Amino acid sequence: MKELEDLKGVGPATAQKLREAGYENVEIIATSSPYEIAENTGLPIELCKSIVEQAKEEIKIDVVSGYELYKTRQNIGKITTGSQKLNELLGGGVETQSIVEFYGKFSSGKSQVGFQLSVNVQLPKDKGGLEGKVVFIDTESTFRPDRIAEMAKSKGLDPDEVLKNIFVIKPQNSEEQILAVEKLEYMLKDENIKLIVVDSLTSHFRADFIGRGSLSDRQQKLNRHIHNLQRYAEKYNLAVYFTNQVMENPGMMFGDSTIPIGGNVLAHAATYRVYVRKGKDEKRIARLVDSPNLPEREVVFRITSAGVTD
Ligand code: GTP
Ligand code: MG
Repeated sequence: MKELEDLKGVGPATAQKLREAGYENVEIIATSSPYEIAENTGLPIELCKSIVEQAKEEIKIDVVSGYELYKTRQNIGKITTGSQKLNELLGGGVETQSIVEFYGKFSSGKSQVGFQLSVNVQLPKDKGGLEGKVVFIDTESTFRPDRIAEMAKSKGLDPDEVLKNIFVIKPQNSEEQILAVEKLEYMLKDENIKLIVVDSLTSHFRADFIGRGSLSDRQQKLNRHIHNLQRYAEKYNLAVYFTNQVMENPGMMFGDSTIPIGGNVLAHAATYRVYVRKGKDEKRIARLVDSPNLPEREVVFRITSAGVTD
């Protein structure tokens, strides 16, 4: 996709006016009316008509045949979580070309599952891996190399090699997080990345957009972010695992009143949405909440010193 500055008649000052008014990319301009842009930016209507026309030409509509889709689906790979029960819940493991979300309270095991997948994706195929590398987006500074090393050893892998195959990014705010993902593309092409972990997807967004007024802005940015992840999952045949926090749902009087952050935008973003909570000792209960083809149900797994197991 072209930059705003690539459109004819758009210099740096005009680009800035557009961005300040929320027209951040060519896609948004293509779907806006020239009159609305003129009103929101103060730019002349003729220029606005021209850039909308140019932007529309830039947008390519991908058409694929059902057969191509069928072929693509056949390339799907599965990563074992380490627990047979948890794999079953997810239809056989964490699939490429799909997005898995784990949400739950603190210490429920969301990050641990992310670490375990980062190790397991490197296993040979007959051991439940994809012999692939990992991009780990660590937004809360909770990535623990020593824990990864421990999990690697218990899988019979060389911890140093495993850690070398995990590229860790630590964005400091939601803008950096969005940009980091947008800039990943070159890396996904060059390296055999089979898993992207975002732990957590929502914490920066939650901190950066406080108050009612900024909520729609937040949702728009979150939408764009998740859309990029979805695109990568399909284009590069990789799996995306992200974690999410919960908040209290004040409208809920009985039962478990926690709901995931992210509202509508995240409600349908993940292919598999799993609510995880702590049980006794090492036990964890995972419930598949929203899946197109699998029933809602619960399984129990464990987090031990060796990692995620049954
Ligand atoms: P937040 O990020 O705080 O929302 O929580 P989380 O859901 O990411 O929790 P996390 O995955 O960090 O799980 C932490 C829990 O995993 C701990 O309370 C322990 O029960 C377990 N755990 C973490 N590290 C180890 C370890 O080295 N050995 C064992 N046996 N358990 C561990
Ligand atoms: Mg965590």
